[in-house]
Amino acid sequence: MAVVDCELEKELKQFDETKAGVKGLVDAGVTKLPRMFRHPPETLPSPNQNNGLDSNLQVPVIDLKDVDICDRRKEIINDLRKAAEEWGFFQIVNHGIPIAVMDEVLKGVRGFHELPQEAKEEWYSRDFKKKVNFFSNGELKVSTPADWRDTLSCKVLEDECNFEAIPEVCREQIREYMKYIVKVQEKLSKLFSEALGLDSDYLENLRCFKSRSLACHYYPVCPDPHLTLGGTRHSDLGFLTLLLQDSSGLQVLHDNVWIDVPPVEGALLTNLADMLQIVTNGKFKSVEHRVLMPATLEPRTSIACFVGTDDLQKPYGPIKELISEDNPAIYKEVLFGEYMNRYKL
Ligand code: OGA
Ligand code: NI
Repeated sequence: MAVVDCELEKELKQFDETKAGVKGLVDAGVTKLPRMFRHPPETLPSPNQNNGLDSNLQVPVIDLKDVDICDRRKEIINDLRKAAEEWGFFQIVNHGIPIAVMDEVLKGVRGFHELPQEAKEEWYSRDFKKKVNFFSNGELKVSTPADWRDTLSCKVLEDECNFEAIPEVCREQIREYMKYIVKVQEKLSKLFSEALGLDSDYLENLRCFKSRSLACHYYPVCPDPHLTLGGTRHSDLGFLTLLLQDSSGLQVLHDNVWIDVPPVEGALLTNLADMLQIVTNGKFKSVEHRVLMPATLEPRTSIACFVGTDDLQKPYGPIKELISEDNPAIYKEVLFGEYMNRYKL
């Protein structure tokens, strides 16, 4: 056992030292999945299960058209409440981000990941104090199988001057995309507040609907896609994630069944994260999801915008208006910074 682990440790170290990520392996012509990316069979989709493929269930799609018209707004808020309680995931359409802006930012991010290795390695780091990091897997450990994925992580997006730190191939596209994302966040913070029966500026005043970072993921074509995962099951930290994806692979755990979440034309996928579950005292759900490696000849690109607070010293706990004698607080208050530190982010 010890010998085997030593070998795996060496494999991880060698991989990390290339600073080329998974894309580097593919460029080097890898034809067999390296051991460090092998996931145990029980965490992989089983060949006999339908794996959500022919399920009729689908993540709700919420159309934000006419959201400021009174009757329509009521319907939207009801749909949002239901989706947040039952799924923790929903797609939004007519959110105001032009399709061209979404296409361009995906293209820009793909462009970064497809740069020659030498052009990317200067960014390769897991020093998360930096504004920009390029890495493959947030952590590489012998005890945890690695995901078949590279990430460019860009932090602190609401400060204009930080954009200069973003690699040039995708900088302007990200800048443009973020202009619209900020407006979507404002809209969603109002809708979520109203869906909770609170004043519409309630969540905005809690300062928890701000962009914290953008994780620009790239899932290269894999030689043995059925033996690995692009993303191990997890729920997201923070309050909310807004995800743009160019192809299938993402699945959400709904009533204990994995359901596919394919991209919907023009849609932005919204998923609730752990802190929103905490502040809503469990009313809204942060749900586990994972990314399968589809057996395709195309890489997959996705961009996750993590929404949370910029005030790391701020304590968050169940919103007092939402708790009562019959519905006591089931979570303790936590400092956002302390909570994120637990995950080294
Ligand atoms: C994440 C995530 C899914 C995807 O970044 O937390 O779940 O499709 N991403 O890339
Ligand atoms: Ni996630």
